[in-house]
Amino acid sequence: MREAAGSGLLVEGASEVVTMAGGLRRGTTQGDPAALRASELGPLAVALFDGLVAAVGPAAEVRARLGAMGLDPDALGRLDARGGTVTPGLIDPHTHLLFAGTREGELRMRQDGADYLAILRAGGGILSTVRATRKASEEALEAHGRRWLREMLASGVTTVEAKSGYGLDVDTELRLLRVAGRLGTEGPVEVVPTWLGAHAVPPEHRDAADPPASYLGSLLRDQLPQVARQGIARFCDVFCERGVFEVQHAKRLLVAARETGMDLRLHADELRDSGGAALAAELGARSADHLAAIPDAGIEALGRAADDGRPVVATVLPATTFYLRKERVAPARALIDRGVPVAVGTDFNPGTSPTASLPLALSMACVTLGLSASEALAAATIQSAHAVGLGESHGALEAGRVGDLVVWDVATHELIPYWIGTRLARSVMKRGRVVVGD
Ligand code: NIG
Ligand code: FE
Repeated sequence: MREAAGSGLLVEGASEVVTMAGGLRRGTTQGDPAALRASELGPLAVALFDGLVAAVGPAAEVRARLGAMGLDPDALGRLDARGGTVTPGLIDPHTHLLFAGTREGELRMRQDGADYLAILRAGGGILSTVRATRKASEEALEAHGRRWLREMLASGVTTVEAKSGYGLDVDTELRLLRVAGRLGTEGPVEVVPTWLGAHAVPPEHRDAADPPASYLGSLLRDQLPQVARQGIARFCDVFCERGVFEVQHAKRLLVAARETGMDLRLHADELRDSGGAALAAELGARSADHLAAIPDAGIEALGRAADDGRPVVATVLPATTFYLRKERVAPARALIDRGVPVAVGTDFNPGTSPTASLPLALSMACVTLGLSASEALAAATIQSAHAVGLGESHGALEAGRVGDLVVWDVATHELIPYWIGTRLARSVMKRGRVVVGD
């Protein structure tokens, strides 16, 4: 028998184990959580060993499987799920984790009729956060990031995509990506860093004849080579929106970023139909995000990409449309019905979505976008794993995947989005180690 104590854990006593086995979901399968129920199968167990899932299923089978692997089940650490629900660790596929300052005053401006993009054009919005972030020290940004990652972890999130984008100059963008990388290395939350240098046109380029083109030149010349050389961003993202970066700008930058080895994602069709979803499909991006204003042609482009076996995950962000007080929300139902895999994220940021709670975003996805609880949970596990390029290793409880899981204080996963705004994650495990709870 191999020495099991210390690096192994047996989670027993769950009412339900949501495995999300079977890979990326499309269409009706988005609603299949591949759940095991103790009421049907008898006692259940999940075994973690060496940071990975070793076995999942009826407890007797899991024990036999461990034995076949040369492990003594009784030598593993034990965690009693006490009738709770076990799911894969949640993955937040879209956050602007790192910034300085807050923008609570913008809600009042919007209540008084101001438009989000008009606030930005006037030098506020994203640009006011850029001013504060440029002045912030690396230590301050790190402390901020650590605080909010801790909050996310407590709500069951074990992996987070984190964008730069509040620097918009070489030094600050690199600083943000360095901090994101360091926080991920420190753990326990895993961080997937995204370079979003093209988040807005900074003041240095505002007086140019063509401001977006002028800043794009500097992105290609100054930022991209350094980000690429340092290898500190897994993804390149662009705020592709009419009046910010048009499709032709986004395309030039994304194609150049891809040549350096980065994967692609886009802020697409958030406020107006801007051609972003179609561009994401054309370029084979991992995900197209927001989509509250996606046209039918955009849904069709994403549908065809999925049909062709190169799916772009549609990452919807219901907390953002809520906080921006938008009536028009992402057509998540139509996307799922067209066979497009849908993920849900928080869009955590100081301007349009000041919430770190992915469970809250899941409740909103159910109430405002019409997802079922099972679809929403898939959207925050296996679908979001694919959206951040971790679809083969994260997002499901299957042997060989990372041992990231949550024990929820409810008897079935349908109650996770049901108890709106409630902390239900009782224990959280990251790579097989208990990082929250008992
Ligand atoms: O995803 N829309 C662009 N970016 C962010 C908002 C950033 C901000 O307002 O600070 C978003 O909503
Ligand atoms: Fe965003």
